Amino acid sequence: MKLRFDIRRQKSPDDKPYIQSILFETDDENMTVAAALNKINETADSPVKWECSCMQKKCGACAMVINGVPRLACGALLSEFAKKGIIKIVKLEPLKKFPVVADLIVDRSIMMKNLKEMQIWFESAAKTENKKDISYEASRCLQCGCCLEVCPNFYPEGEFFGMSAAVPASRIIADMPENQKKEIQEMYRKNIYEGCGKSLACRNICPAGIDIDKLLVNSNAAAVWKRKV
Ligand code: SF4
Ligand code: SF4
Ligand code: FES
Repeated sequence: MKLRFDIRRQKSPDDKPYIQSILFETDDENMTVAAALNKINETADSPVKWECSCMQKKCGACAMVINGVPRLACGALLSEFAKKGIIKIVKLEPLKKFPVVADLIVDRSIMMKNLKEMQIWFESAAKTENKKDISYEASRCLQCGCCLEVCPNFYPEGEFFGMSAAVPASRIIADMPENQKKEIQEMYRKNIYEGCGKSLACRNICPAGIDIDKLLVNSNAAAVWKRKV
C-alpha cells in the first residue's frame, strides 16, 4: 500500500499550523493509522506529537480527525484508504473543538471539568454486572471527544456539556438511589437536555458504539419526565 499522510502540525499552541506531507509504504494489510504514526516517528527528524495508550480502541487517547471524520487512529486501518497502484491521501488533523497543545494533541480537560461540575462520580465501587444494563452501556464511554466534534450544539465553556457528559450521567441516573437523584437530575436537565438538539449526529460517530438512543431515552424519562424506567 502506498499512501501520503498530510498531517496538520503545530509546534505549540501559539505557533502557526502547517501541513507536512509524508509518503508511506507498507505491505501490512492490518496496519492502522496509529501504527503508521509510530513507524513514521521511528525515523522522523521531528516526530509527530500525538497521544496513545492502549492501541486497542479502549482508552480514547488517539482520537483525531482522519480525512474529515473524528475517530480513533488505532481503529483506522490503512487498507480503508489505500487503492492499488494509486497513492491515496490520508489527512490527519487534531480534534477541532479543543485547544491544540502540539500537532495532533489537544487539551480535552473541558470534558473532565464538565463531569466535575455535574458531580458525575460514585462514592463507592459501582456495579456493572449485567451487560444489558444502562450502567454497563454507559460505562463503555472512552471520553474520547469524537461525539463533541460532530455536535452542532457543543462548544467549550458553553452551558451544554454534550454526549461525553450525557453518557456517564446516564449511568449515575440509572444507578443512584431515587432519594439522592435530585441534584444530578437538575444538572442533567440544564446542562444536557435543554441544549441537545436530538439530531443524533453523535450516534454514528461514537467509536465505542454506545447505544446513545437507549441512554438518552432512559435519562430523559428519569431526569426530565420523572418517570421510573
Ligand atoms: S444528539 Fe445532536 S445535539 Fe445532542 S449531543 Fe448528539 S450531536 Fe449533540
Ligand atoms: S460517547 Fe462515544 S464518542 Fe462520546 S466520548 Fe464517549 S466514547 Fe467517545
Ligand atoms: S490508543 Fe487507546 S484508543 Fe487508540
